[in-house]
Amino acid sequence: MSPFQSVSRQSSPVGEVVTLSPRLQLQHLICAHTPSEEELSPGSDVVQGLSATPKTLSPRYFYDDQGSQLFEAICELPEYYLTRTETLILQDFAEAIAHLTGPCEIVELGSGSSTKTRLLLDAYQSLGHPLRYVPIDVSAGILQSSAQALLQAYPTLQVQGLIGTYEQAIAQLAPTPLAARMICFIGSSLGNLDPETADQFFDQITAALQPGDYFLLGIDLQKPKAILETAYNDAQGVTAAFNLNMLSHLNRRFVGNFEVAQFEHWAFYNETAHQIEMHLRSRQAQSVRLEALDLTVAFEAGETVRTEISRKFDLAAMQQNLASHGLQTLHTWTDPQSWFGLVLAQR
Ligand code: TRP
Repeated sequence: MSPFQSVSRQSSPVGEVVTLSPRLQLQHLICAHTPSEEELSPGSDVVQGLSATPKTLSPRYFYDDQGSQLFEAICELPEYYLTRTETLILQDFAEAIAHLTGPCEIVELGSGSSTKTRLLLDAYQSLGHPLRYVPIDVSAGILQSSAQALLQAYPTLQVQGLIGTYEQAIAQLAPTPLAARMICFIGSSLGNLDPETADQFFDQITAALQPGDYFLLGIDLQKPKAILETAYNDAQGVTAAFNLNMLSHLNRRFVGNFEVAQFEHWAFYNETAHQIEMHLRSRQAQSVRLEALDLTVAFEAGETVRTEISRKFDLAAMQQNLASHGLQTLHTWTDPQSWFGLVLAQR
């Protein structure tokens, strides 16, 4: 039985607010902006991407239930050092972060299961700071279950979950009752945005912060090609399964007939652009039909579809870039091998 007996619902200008307990509110964000082409006509991005040369598919289609599970499995892989390394840095330095910011509301973009967040909450708790957490995720289910687990672990924690995209959420953050706010964007998700989108994203972050507020950014750093390529080509084939799962997802969602076995996972480091690129490569010449989109796509043998980029950064260049968006770096932390970096910046 749910420990939360009384659920109250209230509509607000930015979407329905559900109060699940005195310490937990969830809010479904509605679009405050003009709906994008994709929102007006689902799958238009698939049509566009598969009709383009070279072909692309949006990484959003990685994440059905199976995809989310495979992603969790990627984070545990021995070759995939990113999650482990960022966790180590947070274990060592979360208290330093809490000392630098003092009491603040912690906003997390793409919170998922909030595992790494616990390290931050532990640090703020041990310094006696009030705990207020604003997780943002597109999945209501993950948001609610991880919030409820956190409430049990932290008896004074207040959670105000926002269900929606980063863009929706950062444009609609309510004023914080605490002295400051820290927006956290960890897991090197920044690397999955192209440079132009990342710049727009930084502008949105700056706009959502008051002067004196904080931005905590986790980024994967440039390193030898072999280490990077191994991380995205694991021996067990989990990353390959994750990449290929996109085709099953598209089949289900848009009544398609992709033969998954006729494609293969291909990930390599583009040293000029400093990015891992993930592609799906057609093993033979073939044609695929997506009935719900009224789309037929021809693939040549060996032709590829790009599904993701994962950019790798330089800490000094990142500090300059943040500064150009009005965000001054207070401190950076890395692991002993300098594989991964955390940046604490202040507006
Ligand atoms: N941001 C992480 C990275 O770039 C996680 C991630 C996003 C990822 N998309 C992915 C990992 C696709 C593997 C494959 O690595």
